[in-house]
Amino acid sequence: MIQIQISKPESRELWMWFPDIHFPEHDEEALEVAKAAHRLLKPEYTGFLGDVLDCEVFSAHRRKLIQEYQARDYAELEIKPCNKLMDQVAKNTRFTYYLEGNHEQRIERWATNNGKVGVSIYPLISPYQTIAKGRKNFKMIPFEIPSGNRRGYVQVVKPTKKMLTGGLVAVHGWSFAKHAAYVHLEKSRSQSVLFGHCHRAQTIVTRDPWSGHLIKSFCPGTLSKLQPLYAHGGAPTDWSHGFTLIEVVDDSWNEYNISIVKGRCILPNGKEVKII
Ligand SMILES: [Fe+2]
Ligand SMILES: [Fe+2]
Repeated sequence: MIQIQISKPESRELWMWFPDIHFPEHDEEALEVAKAAHRLLKPEYTGFLGDVLDCEVFSAHRRKLIQEYQARDYAELEIKPCNKLMDQVAKNTRFTYYLEGNHEQRIERWATNNGKVGVSIYPLISPYQTIAKGRKNFKMIPFEIPSGNRRGYVQVVKPTKKMLTGGLVAVHGWSFAKHAAYVHLEKSRSQSVLFGHCHRAQTIVTRDPWSGHLIKSFCPGTLSKLQPLYAHGGAPTDWSHGFTLIEVVDDSWNEYNISIVKGRCILPNGKEVKII
C-alpha cells in the first residue's frame, strides 16, 4: 500500500522577479500592481530581468514617427523613476539583482560609436554610475553571454542531485522569437531558465531522461506598455503583463508566473491585488 508523508520545510525563501519595465514606456497600472504585490510578499530576494530603462535617446534605430522626435528627458523620465523604484523595493527585500538588458546596453554602444569622447564619458552615464552606485545589498549584472568568466546571469537556485527540477538561472533573454521559451530551453539545455526580453508570457517544460529532472523555460511577460510607440506597423502584439515568484523550499523550487490583467492579479496565497 502506498503511504504518504507530509513534512514541513526546513527552509523557505521567496524570490520576486520583475520583467522588462522600459521606463518611460512602462505600464503604470501593471507596475503599481507588481509593486503592491512586492510590498505584501516582502520576498527575501528581488530581481529585475533587464530593460528596466528604455534608453531611447541612445538608440541607433531610425525614428519613423514625429512623436518619437519629441524631447525625452532621460534623467527625469528614466533614471529618476528607476532609482525611486530601486529604493522602494530595497525596503521590502534582503538583496536585489538587476540584470542589464539590451536596452541598457544601448548606452555602451552609443559610447563606443562616439569614439574617444563617448568612451571617456561612459563611466559617468552608465547604469553602474546612475543606478547601482552606492547601493547596498544590490548587484547589477552586465548583459553578456554566460560563457567563460562572463556571467550575464543570476544563479537563482544551484543545481543539486536531490532536487526535483534542476538548477535555475535568470537571464535578460537570448531570443525574441515567437516560441522564445523553446529557444531558451534549447540553448540552456541542462538548467531551467527564467527570462524576459520577449515580453510574452510563455512556459515550456521538458524532462531530462537521464536524471529525471524537469527543465523549465519561462517568461512572465512584461511591465511595459503592451502597444508601445516603437512597435511600428500597427499590428497588435501578443505581449502580456505579469511577474514571477520563485519559492525555494529546502532542496527544490516552484515557479509562479502571476498574470496581471486590467490592473488586477491574484497571488498564490489567494490575495487579490487590484487598482481601484
Ligand atoms: Fe524589453
Ligand atoms: Fe530586451
